[in-house]
Amino acid sequence: MKDEQSPLVIIVSNRGPFSFQQEEDGTFSHQRGQGGLVTALAGVIDHYDVLWVAAALSEDDEKWAIAHDDQPQEIEGTRLQLVRLPKEAYDLYYNVIANPLLWFIHHQMWNIPRKPDIDKSTWAAWHDGYKTINRVIAEAVAPHVNAAERQVVVLPQDYHLYLFPYFLRGLIDNPKVQIQPFIHIPWPGPDSWRLLPAEMRTPIFDSLLNADRIGFQTERDAFNFVQTCRFHLPDAHSRGSRNSIEYQGRKVHAASYPISIDVDKLQTLTEEAETRLLKSRLAGIASDNKIILRVDRIEPSKNILRGLQAFRELLETKPQYRGKVQMLMLLVPSRMDVEEYQSYLQAVMAEAGMINAEFSDSFWEPVRIIVGNNYPRAIAAFQLYDVLLVNPIADGMNLVAKEGALVNERNGVLILSENAGAVYELGEHALVINPFDIHSTALAMDQALKMSAAERETRADAMRRQVLDANVRMWFRRQLDDAVAAIRNAEKPKKATKKATPSN
Ligand code: F6P
Repeated sequence: MKDEQSPLVIIVSNRGPFSFQQEEDGTFSHQRGQGGLVTALAGVIDHYDVLWVAAALSEDDEKWAIAHDDQPQEIEGTRLQLVRLPKEAYDLYYNVIANPLLWFIHHQMWNIPRKPDIDKSTWAAWHDGYKTINRVIAEAVAPHVNAAERQVVVLPQDYHLYLFPYFLRGLIDNPKVQIQPFIHIPWPGPDSWRLLPAEMRTPIFDSLLNADRIGFQTERDAFNFVQTCRFHLPDAHSRGSRNSIEYQGRKVHAASYPISIDVDKLQTLTEEAETRLLKSRLAGIASDNKIILRVDRIEPSKNILRGLQAFRELLETKPQYRGKVQMLMLLVPSRMDVEEYQSYLQAVMAEAGMINAEFSDSFWEPVRIIVGNNYPRAIAAFQLYDVLLVNPIADGMNLVAKEGALVNERNGVLILSENAGAVYELGEHALVINPFDIHSTALAMDQALKMSAAERETRADAMRRQVLDANVRMWFRRQLDDAVAAIRNAEKPKKATKKATPSN
């Protein structure tokens, strides 16, 4: 599809596909960015004419941008531009508004009698951080849109960039542009948004409705968005539709595009030398024990703590598993400048330590935690688990569930939260739990560990097929097809409407 006729696709995200490090000789090395968004997008863009615009997140990222005159550069086949942003504004945008305020609303994690407090400093972060950064990023993208003499599809990603569509609209004059945000996280119902003052939430909804179509992970999220706009914007009407909103003379679509994984790439990665080496190291643990695995960012919404509490209950109530089952947790540090994340990590470490102190013996440690961002290690572990625990409080999709289902070699059982988007595709073949229900999670662990080989195989096969059938390339392709069709539609000369002849 990379030809003159194909649209220019501009992906805009907070975190880019690569982070950079300047070496002693002045050259730059790069590392893949972490997280579901990057994992999904990095796998699909090679067939398209893509420019990826992202924030420069570190001093070395900034040096890389300066070294290239703030212009896009090709890295491993991806044309990337990193935008240098005012540091203080970035801190307010990322650490005060996006995470935690918006993230916690989306995942319904505020303990509302106590938090959030929207005080003077939050308002300052809104004006001088969130708005500023969204505007500056829109200013970096606009020249590319205006210079393109063809169709342009702009794909802003996630909750960091809610005000971006509004700012971009004001800066562009290319009529062949389609602005199509994708929201990777769950969109809660209208009441959750009452936590935000109207002067914050209204600009967010109004800006998103400056887009042409908004992508969500599930139909439930798209429906919640439509309802949210109806409740909070007096001028927004859905006219009975579950997936579109009419607002200020425009019709904006809310569509569901369930994200998935790059099947080919992941399968290739299992064959790489580093993955094999890491697998052989982990295989030692997996031969002595049955493995209950979890792979997550250190993130309160992932519900790591309740997972540990369920494992504790399992060891307490079913002593036959002592010495035979290990919970292996691969945890990726995340948002460590946010207080809620720091204290969550401390609580996780404390709970794991208490379980180990109470139950371990000379040959066996019940919980093993490995902290770090190492994708090959995660893939190695996926191949080896007997049970995969995915129990988020709320999650847009959860790609760990799909990655595990694809590459696991032991017909491992998936324990899956009913609040993860992945439940709509994998739930039928997983053990589905309520993430707050520690007791039922412990029972599900027991059920998974003693499940017959035949049942495990049937479930694992079905999940694998499901993942193979819904490749992430389709997720991306569907969004672009819809965008291009919408541009073509808008270009079509409108049929003259027949003047009604008065009947009498
Ligand atoms: O969808 C959620 C997301 O935006 C994903 O990219 C990823 O799971 C995570 O959040 C990344 O967060 P951060 O960039 O703050 O580390």
